[in-house]
Amino acid sequence: MIRTQVGIIGAGPAGLLLAHLLRRQGIDSVVIEARSRRHVEERVRAGVLEQGTVDLLNAAGAGERMRRQGLVHHGIELRFAGRRHRIDLFELTGGRAITVYGQHEVVKDLIALRVEAGAPILFEAAAEGLDGLDGDRPRIRFENHGEPDEIICDFIAGCDGFHGVSRAAMPAGSARHFGKVYPFAWLGILAATPPASDELVYAHHERGFALLSMRSPEISRLYLQCRPGEDLAAWPDERIWDELGTRLETSDGFRLVDGPVLQKSIAAVRSHVTEPMRYGRLFLAGDAAHIVPPTGAKGLNLAAADVWLLSRALARYYRSGSSDLLDGYSETCLRRVWRAQHFSWWMTSMLHRFDPGDGFEFRRQLGELDNLAGSRAASTNLAENYAGLPLDGLEHPT
Ligand code: FAD
Ligand code: PHB
Repeated sequence: MIRTQVGIIGAGPAGLLLAHLLRRQGIDSVVIEARSRRHVEERVRAGVLEQGTVDLLNAAGAGERMRRQGLVHHGIELRFAGRRHRIDLFELTGGRAITVYGQHEVVKDLIALRVEAGAPILFEAAAEGLDGLDGDRPRIRFENHGEPDEIICDFIAGCDGFHGVSRAAMPAGSARHFGKVYPFAWLGILAATPPASDELVYAHHERGFALLSMRSPEISRLYLQCRPGEDLAAWPDERIWDELGTRLETSDGFRLVDGPVLQKSIAAVRSHVTEPMRYGRLFLAGDAAHIVPPTGAKGLNLAAADVWLLSRALARYYRSGSSDLLDGYSETCLRRVWRAQHFSWWMTSMLHRFDPGDGFEFRRQLGELDNLAGSRAASTNLAENYAGLPLDGLEHPT
């Protein structure tokens, strides 16, 4: 049996960053993670950090390697009808930028800081159920190296992603769940080839959406829209490169350079929100509470925003006994979440092929992209949302 102040389920970005922010406030926590350290450190997922996320990692003393290795980008490119249009994020937002730095690098940095500090983090320790959420000593039942064990705490942070146990532990009827599944998936590759563009490219094409991103000056990260439930075996590397090359082509001669594929995977494209993000002493954060389609690059950034608020709310509770910020946690998070849902839905709707037979829809999207390219107001709206809202209170870091 383990006793702590905050029991944190999941060592993804949400759980690890929360544990780190709490430790800086002198609040004890124990993190349990179902998978191995190696698995979470190598799991390739998000890559775009908003300015607010970068500011938070820096203010929390977790940004040292990110500052050295992250790629700061001042713009992104939209590609459609064989043309390119650059959205100048920096200029349109009065100086905000994004940083391309892999989620697994953030995870590695936060694990290293925790291990260095000797703070508790248990890998291959899967939560199985939560008890006593209504009372003031909630418990997490989990498996510790094959043996049943328990964490008794003041609060539980459910940071265990979309498929975790936390959301499912909320009693029936205590929360509402809103979801949307899109009729396509994303096939993503990591490739040992220098990125063919200095900035991210979002491409609209009659064969479907494609995205060119990167992880470093030597490593490219690319995605293409595919059918949901598509079998990876149907996508040998050559077919992937051909398809990406076609979708990213421009009339001014852009050519994609292929290279060895290091990793490939298919991810569903969907939205989900749980309201409220709390039941009793259980607080959900990150993908456990909400997921967005990846087109807006918002998932990891929302997770960071949630745990920033949760860490402040818990700090206030332990410092003054006041639960006002804890009581406002869900509502405050959900406003940002629904703005991100809207933006991600809009980017997804504008750039993907929903029905290959629907020529009207395809041309409507081109009209919208043309408007975006020609209108500073429309471009500013995209830029502000893409670069992200500042985090409240970060001007007074912990
Ligand atoms: P997770 O990263 O899912 O972490 C949850 C952790 O909990 C996992 O380590 C899991 O193993 C663990 N866990 C689960 N169940 C249990 C249990 N029972 N007991 C203990 N541990 C458990 N977001 C962006 O912001 N920008 C992007 O560019 C972007 N691109 C993406 C591209 C792809 C292809 C995908 C799939 C996602 C992308 N996202 C992006 C979304 C982003 O990766 C997620 O939003 C982010 O991982 C959320 O972090 P989290 O900590 O909430 O959840
Ligand atoms: C990524 O680099 O993994 C990435 C970038 C932008 C997105 C989604 C994923 O919108």
